Amino acid sequence: MRILAIETSCDETGLALVEGVKTNEGFAFTVLDSALLSQAALHAGYGGVYPNLAKREHEKNLPVLFEKFKDAKVDAIAVTNGPGLEPALWTGVEFAKKVAKERGVPLLAVNHMEGHLLSSLAQKEHSGILENTRIVLEGVKLPVLALLISGGHTEFVVMKNWFEYEIVGKTLDDAVGEAYDKVARMLGLSYPGGPEVSRLAESIREKQKILSQKSLGLLSSAEDGAAGQTFVQEHFVSLPRPMINSKDCDVSFSGLKTAVLYALRDRGGIQKLSGDEIAAVAREFEDATSDVLVHKTKRALEESGAQTFVIGGGVAANKHIRESLQKLVAENFNEVEMRLPELNITGDNAIMIAEAALARALSGKNDQADETLRAIGNLSIQTS
Ligand code: KG4
Ligand code: ZN
Repeated sequence: MRILAIETSCDETGLALVEGVKTNEGFAFTVLDSALLSQAALHAGYGGVYPNLAKREHEKNLPVLFEKFKDAKVDAIAVTNGPGLEPALWTGVEFAKKVAKERGVPLLAVNHMEGHLLSSLAQKEHSGILENTRIVLEGVKLPVLALLISGGHTEFVVMKNWFEYEIVGKTLDDAVGEAYDKVARMLGLSYPGGPEVSRLAESIREKQKILSQKSLGLLSSAEDGAAGQTFVQEHFVSLPRPMINSKDCDVSFSGLKTAVLYALRDRGGIQKLSGDEIAAVAREFEDATSDVLVHKTKRALEESGAQTFVIGGGVAANKHIRESLQKLVAENFNEVEMRLPELNITGDNAIMIAEAALARALSGKNDQADETLRAIGNLSIQTS
């Protein structure tokens, strides 16, 4: 079965032509072609995604990207109908309706978060580029616990049976990616700030590691040791770990974000800080975020009895968060298989939408839509 998928939920315009088959153990996909245009640079001036600008750009980009696919033979058109920015979602939904009607093929609605979840569970047979590589979604042991971390969402989702989801924990305020983007703005970095904050945090993490080894006399002379200790002390930042001990799987990041604001203010504002001092704040923010996610993941794994753990969404590209979660699973959950998405599939794209649509269609569980299909900004994975 061959599906052309369309994704326009946020600031990426994506199209993908993917073929899928059912196998003994699940599904196998081949990406025949894909196209992705990011608007991130355009939105950078606004410090975040500006919905009406996103809509205008999607309207402009879709027909251009579609040129590549206009002669492709397809069995269905799939489109993200939520969650996301409603004006942006509508452009994809309307475009998909038109193409499905012209081709006389079914229109399938896909939940964006299900796309992140299932595509993160899928594994490529060869790493690197996606085109013409077999991607298998096989051997998945249920229940699955997914930690979905993106710019709009932070949720723990349990999949007990295929395509049946229960949200067992979520953010009470900001999503992780949103907190990263807001902290980035406070640190004078441009949108999307996640990767930038992470790069700064990583730079000082390395430096502090070397210097603290020196201060312990592990690497070098006594003078070096004293200098190392001073550096570590001078760059000490302490931020809270909100809700880390609450007896649920919910999280909250808005207090942490405000604590970053106060930490910067107490140090006289970013204009007064050196590059290393700014990086130290970024590092502590990242450490606090990942500590909270690790604690809550531990709880969610214990409570759900999950056999598989997967992370998905844009923030799943974060090196420190990935490594901290890998360590948690390796040290405490021997029986759990952890699946990490490759870095080129974590951000928004249409391949993940095609994969989710194919998995459902090949299982007879697809949401067949018609011209009444609506974009739903706050669509939940639990109800679809
Ligand atoms: O899933 P996604 O592409 O779009 C949404 O559905 O929201 O996620 C985008 C989010 C942005 O907030 C971006 O800053 C964040 O993912 N992000 C990261 C990293 N890469 C992307 N956050 C932290 N570390 C990263 N390496
Ligand atoms: Zn997303």
